[in-house]
Amino acid sequence: MLVLGIESSCDETGIALYDTQRGLLAHALHSQVKMHAEYGGVVPELASRDHIRRALPLTNKVLADANAKLSDIEAIAYTQGPGLAGALLVGASIAEALAFALNVPTLGVHHLEGHLLSPLLEDNPPAFPFVALLVSGGHTQLMRVSGIGDYELLGDTLDDAAGEAFDKTAKLLGLDYPGGAALSKLAGQGKPHFKLPRPMLKSGDLNFSFSGLKTAVLTLVKKHQPPGEQMPEQTRADIAYAFQEAIVEVLTAKCASALKQTGLKSLIVSGGVGANRQLRESMNQTAAKQGWNVAYPRLEFCTDNGAMIAFAGAMRMKHTQAGDHAFTIKARWDLAELTVPE
Ligand code: KG4
Ligand code: ZN
Repeated sequence: MLVLGIESSCDETGIALYDTQRGLLAHALHSQVKMHAEYGGVVPELASRDHIRRALPLTNKVLADANAKLSDIEAIAYTQGPGLAGALLVGASIAEALAFALNVPTLGVHHLEGHLLSPLLEDNPPAFPFVALLVSGGHTQLMRVSGIGDYELLGDTLDDAAGEAFDKTAKLLGLDYPGGAALSKLAGQGKPHFKLPRPMLKSGDLNFSFSGLKTAVLTLVKKHQPPGEQMPEQTRADIAYAFQEAIVEVLTAKCASALKQTGLKSLIVSGGVGANRQLRESMNQTAAKQGWNVAYPRLEFCTDNGAMIAFAGAMRMKHTQAGDHAFTIKARWDLAELTVPE
């Protein structure tokens, strides 16, 4: 079955074609980061309008790249939530309109399920069950994953998500939105000069809290920012280093605890922060030491993309019939509400 995937939950339009026999055939992405950067964050109305502009040209591109015709599409999966309501509505209405014209079934996919399953798009995917660390701009969750739709929440953030903490800290250091990758680059020039707290490292559970870390960075910035002057570049890099070191240590330790607690030997790390090089190094080292496996999506599928939506849709869609094309979106949607497909 050839599935078209449409992702439009936030500031990236992602379109992909996944075939249940042949695998991923093509994918294309338009990032709105430049457009939103001058406002310091995502402007929802601009996001919706841009998704309208991009979705169909990108669909034509993936069809051409896969050497396929519109009429070859057998099902359409789109991000139904969670995300920005207007942005979700664009993807959902384009998906339903196309499906109506082609008389094919649709399926609304949970964005986080897309992230969660994205490592399975790679060669030699890990087998169920495994522990998943989902670290994105909006979420930091540890889950026991026993199969498609069979998710047990083991731990969650009590305040900021890991990506949010990266972005807010990046802003404090004068980096543009979304600053995660830029902060990581800056940290590459840093030295172990400052020591920041490791929030909830010894809490005895699998929950996280990152807002205190951001406050600790703010205190450092205030202390080292000469009035009316730029902070020395090396100091900025040293603060970025200390922040990344703290967050990576906490994420790695909690994953190790989750594996110990569940008795599982396999971990996947997905979501935007999963692209972080230090995090991958730290996870790989701990995995080698403790004898478990860790899998990631390729770097471009850590952040939002259409491939993960096409894939998650394809995994769930085997028995779906063409419906009446009425739809709702879910700006808020708890992953734990998902059920195992029939
Ligand atoms: O998964 P994603 O695209 O968004 C959500 O679904 O929320 O993740 C975006 C987040 C942003 O906070 C971004 O700063 C962060 O992932 N990010 C990174 C890196 N690349 C992206 N954080 C740390 N290091 C990176 N290399
Ligand atoms: Zn995402």
